[in-house]
Amino acid sequence: MNKKPENPFFTTISIPDEYFCDRKKETLDLINGLKNGYNIVLKSPRRIGKSSLIKHVFLQPEIAGQYNTLYIDIYGTKCAADFIREFQNGFLSASFAKFERGRKSVLSMLRNLYFEVQTTPGGELSGARIGFDGETRISFTLQEMFNFLEQTNKPNIVVFDEFQQIQYYPERMSAILRSFVQQMNNTHFIFSGSSRHLLSQMFDMPNEPFYKSAKSMDLNIISIESYREFCRSMFRLYGKEIEDTAIDLVYHLFCGNTYDMQQVMKAAFAGAVKTRAVDVDAIIATIQLILFDKDKDFRENLNRLDNQKERRVLFCIANEGLATGLTSASTMKRYGLDNASSVQNALRNLCGDKLNMVAKVGRSHYKLQDKFFELWLAKMNHTFDAKVANAGVLFEAVREIEG
Ligand SMILES: Nc1ncnc2c1ncn2[C@@H]1O[C@H](COP(=O)(O)OP(=O)(O)OP(=O)(O)O)[C@@H](O)[C@H]1O
Ligand SMILES: [Mg+2]
Repeated sequence: MNKKPENPFFTTISIPDEYFCDRKKETLDLINGLKNGYNIVLKSPRRIGKSSLIKHVFLQPEIAGQYNTLYIDIYGTKCAADFIREFQNGFLSASFAKFERGRKSVLSMLRNLYFEVQTTPGGELSGARIGFDGETRISFTLQEMFNFLEQTNKPNIVVFDEFQQIQYYPERMSAILRSFVQQMNNTHFIFSGSSRHLLSQMFDMPNEPFYKSAKSMDLNIISIESYREFCRSMFRLYGKEIEDTAIDLVYHLFCGNTYDMQQVMKAAFAGAVKTRAVDVDAIIATIQLILFDKDKDFRENLNRLDNQKERRVLFCIANEGLATGLTSASTMKRYGLDNASSVQNALRNLCGDKLNMVAKVGRSHYKLQDKFFELWLAKMNHTFDAKVANAGVLFEAVREIEG
């Protein structure tokens, strides 16, 4: 085993097995699906653990020894040229490129591609020309990479993380990709992403190219029992202790969001001493410290709202935790909102891509995207203590509506 890290609570996506919480069933399901030749769509809300799970699966002996793995994150891509560039980067970090011979053949293939489609008149590498010749040229470029994958000695697993992004490209990327994906025998794919709506549209609608082409997997939050056990054992590994009530409070307050919980546990662990178990008070103090660190960012967040109505609606949702009936007379009165259409407008802006501060839950409920921001607003509003006291009840309500 490698050297013990200073802190066992990771907030990066590559987590050594010993510090990875549960996901046993999901790991098995993914491995079995891949070994049986399925392509898989992996969906979950943000920051629940898709990317970490995929990286974890790649480390398992059934996968690590048997397959070449390519992990391609297309979150920041905007067009087919960006996609191809990320795909090429994936080739360079794939296991078949780790050895000199493999690397040479990957480089010689990519060099062809660069000269073919990505050189400026000055001889500089650039992705800009790829789009010019339209879809035929894009297909040609991808063809080379997919051909390469068909010829590797070991089979391949290719992950396209944040796959829904291709729906925003100007090119008809899903049709182009689908034509390759369906012909591959030596390669299986994981398409993963956080937009359930877009991914479902891509894989469940009969008129879409990827219709029914992959097995669907929804990643849920880690169970409270598993997270409790995990936290206790991580603390014990270092001779420290944490009380169950403290773990439960974090779980409920952050609605089981893996990233948020890991952030709190990481800080709580760092501040813990061996002579005293971390209890609820210590956890609250830890969260307050994190909020203090984020204070400047959250103030800037608030300054992005240019009218009082948006602020009031935001405070209302933060205060309620899970808000509904925002245009009812009693709610409007309580939060100083004076007309229904301006509340609707404010909601639209708060949920929109530009601000992206509020998420719609189910048909008619709203909640803040970032729990830390919600808690910070609660602090400003002197309702932080009430939020802590109601954490369990709110958690149940959110779970019921999210399903
Ligand atoms: N099983 C786990 N054990 C411990 N920590 C985990 C586990 N799964 C995820 N995490 C932590 O939670 C954080 C979020 O996970 P990850 O980035 O994999 O989520 P995601 O669903 O891919 O998010 P996004 O939709 O934003 O890409 C990571 O920083 C990781 O450290
Ligand atoms: Mg991810």
